[in-house]
Amino acid sequence: MDRATYDVVVVGGGAAGLRAAIAAAEANPAASIAIVSKVYPMRSHTVSAEGGTAAVLRDYDSFDLHCFDTIKGSDYLADQDAVEFFVSKCPEEIVQLEHWGCPWSRDPDGRVSQRAFGGMSVKRTVFAADKVGFHILHALFQTTMKFDNIHRLDEFFVTDLIREGNAAAGVTALDMRGGELVRITSKAVVLATGGCGRIYEFTTNGFIKTGDGMALAYRAGVALKDMEFVQFHPTALPGTGILITEAARGEGGYLINKDGERFLKRYVPEKMELGPRDILSRSIMSEIREGRAFDGPYGHYIGLDLRHLGEGTINTKLPMVRELAEKYVGIDPVNELIPVRPGQHYIMGGVATNARGETSVPGLYAVGETACVSINGANRLGSNSLSECLVFGTSTGRAVAEYVRKKDWPSGAAAKEAVLAEEARIYDGFLKRERGSETVAGVRKEMQQLMERDVGIYRTEAGLREACARLVSLRERFAGIGIADKERVFNTELTTVLELDYMLEVATAIAHSALGREESRGAHSRTDFPKRDDARFLNHTLAFRADGAPRIEYLPVTITRWQPAARVY
Ligand code: FUM
Repeated sequence: MDRATYDVVVVGGGAAGLRAAIAAAEANPAASIAIVSKVYPMRSHTVSAEGGTAAVLRDYDSFDLHCFDTIKGSDYLADQDAVEFFVSKCPEEIVQLEHWGCPWSRDPDGRVSQRAFGGMSVKRTVFAADKVGFHILHALFQTTMKFDNIHRLDEFFVTDLIREGNAAAGVTALDMRGGELVRITSKAVVLATGGCGRIYEFTTNGFIKTGDGMALAYRAGVALKDMEFVQFHPTALPGTGILITEAARGEGGYLINKDGERFLKRYVPEKMELGPRDILSRSIMSEIREGRAFDGPYGHYIGLDLRHLGEGTINTKLPMVRELAEKYVGIDPVNELIPVRPGQHYIMGGVATNARGETSVPGLYAVGETACVSINGANRLGSNSLSECLVFGTSTGRAVAEYVRKKDWPSGAAAKEAVLAEEARIYDGFLKRERGSETVAGVRKEMQQLMERDVGIYRTEAGLREACARLVSLRERFAGIGIADKERVFNTELTTVLELDYMLEVATAIAHSALGREESRGAHSRTDFPKRDDARFLNHTLAFRADGAPRIEYLPVTITRWQPAARVY
């Protein structure tokens, strides 16, 4: 069935997708833009971002310093031209969000407040208490409603890209409420589906973050870039993985072991709790391995101590931290330590794009965590991610608006074929499968545990080879997963299987990219290759889908003004 035809289809309704849609709608008022999302946009994972968004706003700061912090944080793997562009555009996004109603926290003199964040040399992180994602998403969502040329298809699960010739020409999607498979034709497609944290067992990411956009681009022949760089946030709640924001440390919180010691003095003495996430996560793992962590019902953890901040600061600056600690672990941080441990949080890699969101397929764009521009290299600094969604959301929206102005409408022939092929694959294939020995939960859990163990914070050649081999057998077992629910309307069992299909695709790209990189850099820590090796690996990894294992290629990093140096904090 033909759902509709739009100039631009944006897949994903989080900060990056909404910002891209607004920029496209403003730049080309004649263009029709559809936001196609598997959830209602206010349920996108952006809503759970907490601590803040980075921008140079004060005299004590400078673009050069923000660039340097970001590049050093990336362990010199970021493309420096992209970082310079990014940093120069962050401030205007903060002002724009303010004008669209985002209630930034204020200093007593009325200026927008900025707080400290890990790896940033100065207070650079703009915030709205510790509910920054909610407020940004809300401001963007209500702004989309001002535009007659922005349309929404909520609860549509995208199953494939439509291509005409080589160019993107729309998507096929399950209309989850209507229970139909539809074609949504367009001149261009923007992938903004966030990351793929659910590939891991213990993650801060919502259930919806299953790598959909990454897998769609990968299947269309676009490279996934730098996928081995997976960020673990130092402070997630044991059991649930719920994020306890870095802002808690930015506001002065301590990390302490079971001996009551601020153990980071042994690892990052200059920065302590404001060290970068890769180093802090490894430091916590060392404390756990050496027996200096607490023991609890969900394993080992360390303590986040906010008691010295006082109830007033906690209530004004960190109200959600208090609420989460009370609701999910039953403790009040005013009086008690919050139990925390590292959890998968973000992926530095993604769909290879330039700063305009363009991929190697004409008319196909990617933005936000789905994309790798790359500004984050081997390790992202906290609070650069929301800014990344805003800055590149804008540049991508403008670029796609320009593209569709000149692009002819697709004939629609490819779309008709695509929808028939998807109906056969999904309804005659997946939906007709009877329950067998495999379950989606069983295969998914094994994948998540495998990724956590062998492609997690520490990696070795043996572990990575094991992961690559077991992902092949999980893919074979995936073919034996049956579906009990045969209904077409809101069949979440079916969409869960399709999500696992995407996740296995992306997990394979991560494991093979990690196996190829025989060095340690940023979040990629190879115990068998403990040093950074600029001679061999000052390069981006490009993983291309192929029959069998992905094809891995390398691409030099762009260096403009900051020569690689030892990364010492
Ligand atoms: O800890 C945090 O609030 C996370 C921020 C980020 O990932 O940028």
